[in-house]
Parts: sequence; C-alpha cells; structure tokens
Amino acid sequence: MLIISKKSDLIDAISAYREQNKQSVGFVPTMGFLHSGHGSLIEKSIRENGLTVCDIFVNPLQFNDKKDFEKYPVDIERDKNYLEQLGCDILYIPLHSELYPNGHQPMTYDFGELESFMEGRFRAGHFQGMAEVVRILFEIVKPDKAYFGEKDFQQLKIIQHLVKQFQMPIEIVPCEIIREDDGLAMSSRNARLSPQQRNQASFIFRQLTWCTQNYKNYSPPQLQKLITEKFEKNSCFKLEYVEFADRETLKSINSWNECSSAGVFIAAFLGDVRLIDNIILF
Ligand code: PAJ
Repeated sequence: MLIISKKSDLIDAISAYREQNKQSVGFVPTMGFLHSGHGSLIEKSIRENGLTVCDIFVNPLQFNDKKDFEKYPVDIERDKNYLEQLGCDILYIPLHSELYPNGHQPMTYDFGELESFMEGRFRAGHFQGMAEVVRILFEIVKPDKAYFGEKDFQQLKIIQHLVKQFQMPIEIVPCEIIREDDGLAMSSRNARLSPQQRNQASFIFRQLTWCTQNYKNYSPPQLQKLITEKFEKNSCFKLEYVEFADRETLKSINSWNECSSAGVFIAAFLGDVRLIDNIILF
C-alpha cells in the first residue's frame, strides 16, 4: 500500500494509474481509528474498482464541540496495518496546510431543508465543515465512486446533494450499517465508552429494533413519545432526538402513509459520548 501525504504525489499516483488502466477509482473518506464499519466500505470499493484510495483526516471544521475534537481517538499505525491487510491501494493522510492553506475561507453550502433536521439542528455548522473537506478531497482524488455509510444517513444525503449541486461525476455508493454482536453500530467514538457504558450502549439498537417490530400499532408521534419515555426511564442516556422520517427527504412524518420509505433516527449521549444510529422501518 502506498502511503501519501503530499497532494501532488497523490494526484501523480492516481493519474499514473489512470493512464495505464481503464478501471475505475474508488474513494473512502474517513477520520481514522478504523473499525469493521470502515472496513466494509474499503472492501466494497476494492470489489468494485481497480484502485482504492482511503484517506484519514480528523477534520477540525466539522466538530461543533471542541472537546469532541480533542478526544477523537487516533491510532495511525493500527489503521495502516488494517488497511494493508484489507488490500487498500493508497492511504492518503493529507497535510492540514494543503487542505486548508493559510487564509482558507470555507465555502457556504446551501443544502436546503436537509441541513435543518436532526444532526443539522443539534450540531450547528457540522455539515458545512464536513461538506467542505469532502468537496476538497473529491477535487483532489477525482474518484469515479465514493463510499459512505448509512450509519451517518443524513451525511450520506448531504453528500449526494453536494455532488449533484457541483455536478461532480462521482457515484455515491451507500453502504449498510455494520454492528457489534449486541447490535451497537460500530463507531470510532465507541472506544471512549467505559466497559460499563459499553454494556449499556446497545439500548439504542434495542429501541430501534423494537420500533421495526411494533411501529404499525402506533402513529409516528405516538411512537416518538413512547421511545422518548423509554429513554427518560434509562438514567444512563440523555436523548437528543428520536425522529421518524422519510428516508428520501429526511422530513419527519405524522403518518406512515406519507412516504414510501421511512426510518427511525436517534442521537443520544451516553456519558459524554454522543452516539447516533438509525434503522429502516419500510
Ligand atoms: P468517519 O466517522 O470516520 O466515517 C467514515 C465513513 O465510514 C462514513 O461514510 C461513515 O458513515 C462510515 N461508517 C462509520 N461507521 C460505520 C458503520 N458502523 N457501518 C457502516 N459505515 C460506517 O464520516 C466521517 O468519518 C467524516 O464525516 C468524513 C466523511 C470522513 C468527512 O470528514
């Protein structure tokens, strides 16, 4: 695996590949501290493309909470070994000064309503900062396909919107959520849970699966109230939101027949670790 930090080296390596091969280039952007969730994206890219590029960059612009940024777990050596094992072709570890040169003015993006729901409401500026780094990375890597997990469902929607808006010829490939044995969605932030919190964390998944089994007996607002009460009874968690929404527009719904596909979306704090998860209902 090639490990590259300089932007010009990466551009050269990718164009050299493109000159010699007719096959596509796949890209998997990450913030590192890789787990099997990331691994599933890399493996999919390897299956579907001739060349797979992964990047690791903990993007300061997308952290609305400074403490979350400072505590974000990092282990580059372990990540390198993992990517090597998976068969990733290029690991790009960008230089901060090349992504954001001195005086860099981030663009302002218009994602319409998509940005006002859920994560957009609770993490001011998060999607603006996330879109900025992904747009810059897309312009450098110029992949044919880019892989995003449904764990961050709203992020995936925003990125689909971004490539349309900027007319980037990149296919965004959604990838299913990879979970631990007890159902907890894999996340780099899980490493910050204490053993006791780790045992409690699957509570979120249990609420999501409960919804999949019982939603037909309730209206979305009734179910929202019920799940909120369940969280209120569990003193370990502080619920930020539980939303029942159209999986196309992410607008919350009042009745099940309002849309053709709906999901449940949850964000909650377990101690000072913020966890998000979602599941499809139909
Ligand atoms: P990060 O949290 O490292 O996630 C990188 C990619 O892995 C994202 O597309 C995310 O949805 C996916 N992913 C994470 N956990 C997953 C799981 N359990 N199952 C499936 N996919 C999973 O998301 C980011 O980084 C950043 O916002 C980024 C897009 C890199 C921009 O900085």
